[in-house]
Amino acid sequence: MRMYDLIMKKRNGKALSEKEIRYIIEGYVTGSIPDYQMSAFLMAVYFKGMTDEETAIMTDAVARSGDMVDLSGIAGIKVDKHSTGGVGDKTTLIIAPIAAACGVKVAKMSGRGLGHTGGTIDKMEAIPGIKTSLTQEEFFDVVNQTGLSVIGQSGNITPADKKLYALRDVTATVDSIPLIAVSIMSKKLAAGSDCILLDVKTGSGAFMKTLEESIKLAECMVAIGENSGRKTAALITDMDRPLGNNIGNSLEVIEAVETLKGNGPEDLTEVCLSLAANMLYLGGKGELSACMEMAKEAIQTGKALENLIAMVEAQGGDASVIKDPLKFEKAALSYEVKAPKSGYITYMDTEACGIASMMLGAGRETKDSVLDYAAGIILVHKTGDYVEEGAVLATLYAGKKELFESAGAQFIEAVTITDQKTKKEPLIFARIEKGKVERYL
Ligand code: URA
Repeated sequence: MRMYDLIMKKRNGKALSEKEIRYIIEGYVTGSIPDYQMSAFLMAVYFKGMTDEETAIMTDAVARSGDMVDLSGIAGIKVDKHSTGGVGDKTTLIIAPIAAACGVKVAKMSGRGLGHTGGTIDKMEAIPGIKTSLTQEEFFDVVNQTGLSVIGQSGNITPADKKLYALRDVTATVDSIPLIAVSIMSKKLAAGSDCILLDVKTGSGAFMKTLEESIKLAECMVAIGENSGRKTAALITDMDRPLGNNIGNSLEVIEAVETLKGNGPEDLTEVCLSLAANMLYLGGKGELSACMEMAKEAIQTGKALENLIAMVEAQGGDASVIKDPLKFEKAALSYEVKAPKSGYITYMDTEACGIASMMLGAGRETKDSVLDYAAGIILVHKTGDYVEEGAVLATLYAGKKELFESAGAQFIEAVTITDQKTKKEPLIFARIEKGKVERYL
């Protein structure tokens, strides 16, 4: 078999066989297929797509390129959750403790921030002392003791995805539905949970900018999960405005804690309750409506917050900052961004808001950037609000004064104010299960 012929076959829009796909993945991981040929292949997939069968085979090949985690050492049903990435998305820190409080186990591997999007592991590392890298035995012990554990992806999970992702990042081939599905689902299958809930973000802050593309991606991933014997569902949720009011690592942990106390912003609370209810549903806890009531109760009784505290302590973190978020180290400086005119906020370019937060030090501009955990943005107004000229739209936080000018300009560019009142869009657009799409719009 020659890689040249396989690139040409895909370039000409033909489907590859199982043998051919496994040859490509194995050859790329072992180094016999160079980056330049793989780049050409990825671009061919970007333009010509892949059949469902090809996508499923490539997912399996990428999943098996490294360790397949066996979670049978953890008692009970394990439910995983994955978000396709967004701005202000701190849902894992809220829904994993809710799910654990209601009796399903969450043994989760999460990622770091990518581009304009934040990552759960960076947010967790804002908690002093917490370990996000555990041995398998420690990981299992934490889940068995507290119902949940969230750690970084261990060394040898899907090495093919690590290599492919880095190549896609620099060859303009990230936003391809089959390639995203392969990347996400290979990691989920390798991570070993029984059930998988996907939170597919849609809108200006997401990789998928339109609802139709997001539904296609969700259907593709649900089919892969189900065909691999995992109960899988997806929600399509809004990322045309940041989720919640806080963007930035410790700011997001603080907002997650407030939400677990029942004091979270409405949008974040609504999305988290729906995600948590769906995790419980997949975990066999009953009908969706009953699962929603269980999720609400876990917040009202404070049980979910207790589970988060237990996990932080079990992973060596200082839980005093969770018990009293005022103890989080604060940014040295703050800066208010004011409305340049009166009117309704009709649009927030969410990707640009995420970039503004990154420019303040909350995200990485290069692989080696050092994060400022206290940096970020607290939004005072969001899409749909009426603001008077000069009203504070957001407060920016950073460690260095010179960061405010460019980040402030970036943020203000992202906000459109007009005299047109906008219709309130739903936060959850659709729910996808095997062979079923429920639309809420
Ligand atoms: N998240 C992933 O893990 N992979 C992608 O390709 C896109 C988002």
